[in-house]
Amino acid sequence: MIETLLIIEDEKLLGSELSRHYRQSGWDVVLATNLSEARALLLNKRIEPLLILSDMNLPDGNALDFMETMKKNVNYAEWLFLTGYGSVPDSVRALRLGAYDFLEKPCDLERLDLVVTSAARSASMQRRVIDQTKQGHRRYSPEAYLGHSRQAQSIRELLGRLTQVPFSALIIGGESGTGKGLIARILHYGGTRAQQPMIEVNCAALPRELLESELFGHEPGAFTGASGRHRGLLEQADGGTLFMDEIGEMPLDLQAKLLKAIEDHKVRRLGGEKEISVDVQIVAASNRDLEKMAQAGGFRMDLYHRLNVFRVMLPPLREAVEDLDELVPLFVAEYNAKAGRRVKEIPDDVWNKLKAHYWPGNVRELRNVIERCVLFSDGAIFPGQWLQLPGQDSLSGAGQRGQKTDNNIEVNERVICLPLDGSMALDDMDRFIIKTALERADNNLTAAARALGATRETLRYRVRKYNLKIAD
Ligand SMILES: Nc1ncnc2c1ncn2[C@@H]1O[C@H](COP(=O)(O)OP(=O)(O)OP(=O)(O)O)[C@@H](O)[C@H]1O
Ligand SMILES: [Mg+2]
Repeated sequence: MIETLLIIEDEKLLGSELSRHYRQSGWDVVLATNLSEARALLLNKRIEPLLILSDMNLPDGNALDFMETMKKNVNYAEWLFLTGYGSVPDSVRALRLGAYDFLEKPCDLERLDLVVTSAARSASMQRRVIDQTKQGHRRYSPEAYLGHSRQAQSIRELLGRLTQVPFSALIIGGESGTGKGLIARILHYGGTRAQQPMIEVNCAALPRELLESELFGHEPGAFTGASGRHRGLLEQADGGTLFMDEIGEMPLDLQAKLLKAIEDHKVRRLGGEKEISVDVQIVAASNRDLEKMAQAGGFRMDLYHRLNVFRVMLPPLREAVEDLDELVPLFVAEYNAKAGRRVKEIPDDVWNKLKAHYWPGNVRELRNVIERCVLFSDGAIFPGQWLQLPGQDSLSGAGQRGQKTDNNIEVNERVICLPLDGSMALDDMDRFIIKTALERADNNLTAAARALGATRETLRYRVRKYNLKIAD
């Protein structure tokens, strides 16, 4: 894709020199020799530059004043300033207004190229965020959270209220696959900040150093390998929402830094001097009990209280099984459409199995199960043989005991099947294994511990950890 570079430069020679250079590097260059020409290009001709490279003082005014008035019309473009009269106040103001960089003339072309490249990268990223914002706006409203159970209804009601008010922080809790990501999107795209960016970060996915530089950004050379300037996620989310998934996994020292940024509404990039103002709504999610973690010292209590302005607790699917009545036909229809299938009829025994399953992976697991069955269907009837619900299909029916699976593993009551398709988190597997072992041992802790090759103490500890009930 050929990108547009708007150059605003009144010195004829420099203007044409820069135009020629950047045309050669593949840009569609548009040159304006004063601010009113630039204004006409942006507002009347509606050019959409990825980058604006501007002289500071132009015959008809100051480019920073121009930037201030035009910023909302060119929302993703990065601004770079060149100036012959480099003065500290101008550069400070330029950066405060959100300019990408400020270079003094005469400027070495090689250095300018480097800055242009990294500014272009930053602008494309911002553009992608804006495009996603537009798409998300259409898709997410409180009604996107499905289910007619009492729990689902009260969640929609709460979402209806929350999307009307400007909240500063919120925690979404619930087991894996219960829809925390979905709720975060509804809160943003259905809420008061919908036109601004929503930025996501998974705190468990990045090592500490990377998470820090992602969140706060960095200046060139802030650490080994930090080439170029990087706007942190808090900065990128300015005006919008930062969705911090799996926040319980964030290292404690970073939690302190995050708390400070939230309280002061300011961030400082790594290796940077200046504090940058940010206005960000934080939506934090975790499948762990953050309050308990805070009490045990695994999560900062002050950050917990700062985030816990509101809390949305999502129910596990097994506690709202009536929602299956709504979710299953909708997912079937969705995968029918995606895969060109025509499943219409769901037999009673399939319903019974779906309702009896424990759903450790919640709605995500349900979605995957339905997808598999619809994909393998060859007619109008839902093919129950592909349900393959762990602990059910292959294990519960007496007639099916001792079957061989595809991998030639014999399945019987001493075997547990677990999905290895990302639908179930490790902790949930652990919980599921323990729960199943206890059920099969009729809640006898000693027998279950023996089956698991664990001691009674270990088992008792985990039973407590996972809130399982035993008749001991
Ligand atoms: N009530 C619901 N209505 C419609 N779709 C749902 C509902 N709950 C969950 N989903 C869907 O289930 C899938 C899993 O949800 P999501 O990714 O939001 O879960 P999560 O709680 O963020 O899980 P994790 O803790 O593993 O990140 C998504 O496709 C989501 O859209
Ligand atoms: Mg998620």
